[in-house]
Amino acid sequence: MTTSSLEANVEPELVKQWITELGGGPSSTVPLLQAIQGKYGYLPRKAMDLIVEHTEITGRQIYGVATFYAQFRLRPVGRYMIKVCHGTACHVQGADRLNTALRHSLNIHDEAQDTAENGSYTLENVACVGCCSQAPLMVIGKEVIGNINGAGAQKALRKHARGVQEVLPKAEKQSVNS
Ligand code: FES
Repeated sequence: MTTSSLEANVEPELVKQWITELGGGPSSTVPLLQAIQGKYGYLPRKAMDLIVEHTEITGRQIYGVATFYAQFRLRPVGRYMIKVCHGTACHVQGADRLNTALRHSLNIHDEAQDTAENGSYTLENVACVGCCSQAPLMVIGKEVIGNINGAGAQKALRKHARGVQEVLPKAEKQSVNS
């Protein structure tokens, strides 16, 4: 399975409904993108093309906005999001090691990718989440898991996967002790 197989199945009627509700001028670009991402978790190419086709918004405008704001994603997301804090405190305390360990567990070896191929989890690097005393930390759903090393991050991931009955990629069994 590749991340292209995680692409959303875009419903054109839904996109047209958002255009009707939110407007089709350039000032509607952000609300339309928010509606798309709210539904699909990212901005599928097909949805963006439909916006360009049925509004006054140009391709240049919509891609300009989509790539300018950090809130928008152009790639599919997994069923669960793992945020790894890379604020100063977490960085100093070894956030990179959490990332490496989680990538290993999720079998994500391509630096350009952030989602496990089975569509289970997406890794996202974020700025300070305001829990610096627990650095380094990761966040799965609304749960902050702090004061962990790479092995602790892998353990927390396995625990979460068991709780939601999610299957991790095969490489999950190997651990990283740093
Ligand atoms: S730097 Fe990670 S919570 Fe503040």
